[in-house]
Amino acid sequence: MSQIELQGIGKTFRISKRPEGRMGVLKGAFVREAKTIAALKDISFSIKEGELVGYIGPNGAGKSTTVKIMGGILTPDEGDCTILGRTPWKNRQAHVSRIGVVFGQRSQLWWDLPVTDT
Ligand SMILES: Nc1ncnc2c1ncn2[C@@H]1O[C@H](COP(=O)(O)OP(=O)(O)OP(=O)(O)O)[C@@H](O)[C@H]1O
Ligand SMILES: [Mg+2]
Repeated sequence: MSQIELQGIGKTFRISKRPEGRMGVLKGAFVREAKTIAALKDISFSIKEGELVGYIGPNGAGKSTTVKIMGGILTPDEGDCTILGRTPWKNRQAHVSRIGVVFGQRSQLWWDLPVTDT
């Protein structure tokens, strides 16, 4: 049985954009253009006990968003995620007692330090 299961996960972010141009700052105080960003569309995968995996993709592909959903930090708009029998964003406290996420990049993380120590 898989310990990690994601099925049809989707996530959209809504951001407000300031109008462009020289008067953008002023106009932006009154009108904001709403924009939606489809960060994840229909993401499904499963990982079994003992499997060691990498999750790769170009900048903005949705890697961090997926991991945030798996860590219970974000709630997806659609889809299911079960990790060790729990839905991360529904049973967050119990979930984070068994799982951790380390975010950072090469200037923030110590290269020689293993993930567990970090
Ligand atoms: N909080 C947020 N608000 C608005 N848009 C967001 C937010 N977080 C992520 N996005 C957008 O969602 C998409 C996926 O971003 P994400 O950070 O998951 O990608 P990534 O694969 O981790 O990229 P990178 O390799 O740069 O770390 C991008 O278009 C990003 O701009
Ligand atoms: Mg990222």
